Amino acid sequence: MSATTTSAAPPAYAKGFETLSDEVVVDRLPVSGALPTWLAGSLLRTGPAKFEAGERQMRHWFDGLAMLHRFTFADGAVSYGNRYLRGRTAHAVLDEGRIAYPEFATDPCRTLFRRVQTLFAPTFGDNANVNVMRLGERFVSMTETPISVQFDPDTLEAAGVPFMPPGQLTTAHPHLDRETGGMLNYAAKLGPRNEYRFFALGPDDAEPRVLARIPTKNVGYVHSFGLTERWIVLAEFPWAVNPLRMIASGRPFVENFRWEPERGTRFLLVDRRTGAHGPTFATDPFFAFHHVNGYDDGDDLVLDISTYADPSLVQALYLDNLRAGGPVPSSELRRFRLSAATGDVRHERLVAEPFELGRINYGRCNARPYRCAWGVTSGPDTWLDGIVKADVEERATTVWREAGRFPGEPVFAARPGAEDEDDGVLLSVVLDADRGTSFLLVLDAADLSEVARAEVPHHIPFSFHGQFAARR
Ligand code: CO
Repeated sequence: MSATTTSAAPPAYAKGFETLSDEVVVDRLPVSGALPTWLAGSLLRTGPAKFEAGERQMRHWFDGLAMLHRFTFADGAVSYGNRYLRGRTAHAVLDEGRIAYPEFATDPCRTLFRRVQTLFAPTFGDNANVNVMRLGERFVSMTETPISVQFDPDTLEAAGVPFMPPGQLTTAHPHLDRETGGMLNYAAKLGPRNEYRFFALGPDDAEPRVLARIPTKNVGYVHSFGLTERWIVLAEFPWAVNPLRMIASGRPFVENFRWEPERGTRFLLVDRRTGAHGPTFATDPFFAFHHVNGYDDGDDLVLDISTYADPSLVQALYLDNLRAGGPVPSSELRRFRLSAATGDVRHERLVAEPFELGRINYGRCNARPYRCAWGVTSGPDTWLDGIVKADVEERATTVWREAGRFPGEPVFAARPGAEDEDDGVLLSVVLDADRGTSFLLVLDAADLSEVARAEVPHHIPFSFHGQFAARR
C-alpha cells in the first residue's frame, strides 16, 4: 500500500487539511435563508486543526491537534466559537512546539529506554479529536486513547478527565443507553492476556462497570461497535496487532496492525443486560470505521455498516496523500443479517452511493428498526463532496451537492414534537473551496433542500464527529 501519491496541483479541498490557528467568538454569524426558530441548543464538534508541532509535521489526518467548535442556536440566530482542546497534548504542541505523546501515526522521538519504560507505565496523550458526547450534564471530547476530556459547552474550556475506561484502547463512539441515560463503550485491556471489554458508565458516574470480558490473543482495531435492543456487537475485522510486539516495534500505533483476510471477520455478541456471551458469527473479511445502526429482527440481527474491502483507507488518510489529491477508497453501505437459526451471515449493498460518517435520528432509532440514514458521499475522483440521505427500506437516495463545496458529517436535529423520523434538520460544516472559508449548512432532513447557511470567518479543517445538544 502506498501512502503518497503526487499530482500537479493540490486539489480544491486541500484547504481542509491546513492548520487553523485563530480562536474566535462570534456572537452572530451572517445567515442566508432562515434558521428555524425551534432550533435551540448547540452543535458541538471536535476535529484535528493543527498539523505541525515546532518543526515536526504530523503524518496522518488523525494525528492533528484537537480543536472544539460550537454553533449555538437561539431565536433564529447562531453564534460560533472555537478553541483548541487545552489539555497536556495541546500544552506540548502549542506552548513547547513538540509532540510529547504517541499519536495514531506519529510518535514522539524516543529512545529505546523510553519505549521500554512506556511499556510498563504508559503515558497517554489527551488529543481528543474524534467525537464529543453528552453524558448527563457533562460534555466530553473523546478519542481512542483512554483519556477523554470534559469541557464547558459555552466557553469550550477543558475541564479535566471525567473517567477512565477499563483498558488502554477505547472508542470515541460510545452508545447511549436509553434505560439508564448512561453510556456503553468498548475498551481493550492489553497485557500478558488481552481482553476485549464492554463497560457501562452511569450519567453521573466516574467509575465504569465492566459488563463483559472476551479474551483474545491479538487485538483487532475497533473504532465503533453495533447495538440492538438485546445485543452489543463487536465486529472484529482481521486487522489486528500483538500488543507486546507493538511496544517493541518502534513503529507508530497504527503501523503495527496486520491485515490477515484469510481469518475473515467475526461478529462477537454480548447480552446488554447480563453481559453473557452470545453466539459468534463469521463472514467475509472487510474493514470499517463506522456502524450506522442495528436492530433485532425476531431472533435475527440486522447490522448496517459502512464497509471497505480492506484497511487501505487508513493508508489513504495520511496527510501527504490527502493534500496531493491521492485516491481514497470509497465505502459501501452494507446490511448484514445474522441468522440465529442457521448461524449464517448474509450481506447486501443498501445504496449505490458511497456512504460515510453516517448518522441517524439517534434518540428515536438507535438500536431499533429505522428507515433514514444520512451521511457524506463522494464522486469517483474527489474527496467527500456531497450529503446523502439513504432510505434503507426503499433503498432510495437523495443527494445534496454543490461544485467546490466539501461537507462534513451531517448531524440530525429533530424538530420538537416531530412525528416523522426525518422531521428535523441536518447540520453540516462545509468547506467553500472558492472562498477558502467554511459555513454551517442547514438542510431539511426530509428532502435535503437548503434551509439556511451561516458563514464562518475562517476555514474549519475537516473534522470527524459532533453532536447536537438541544437546550434544556
Ligand atoms: Co468515527
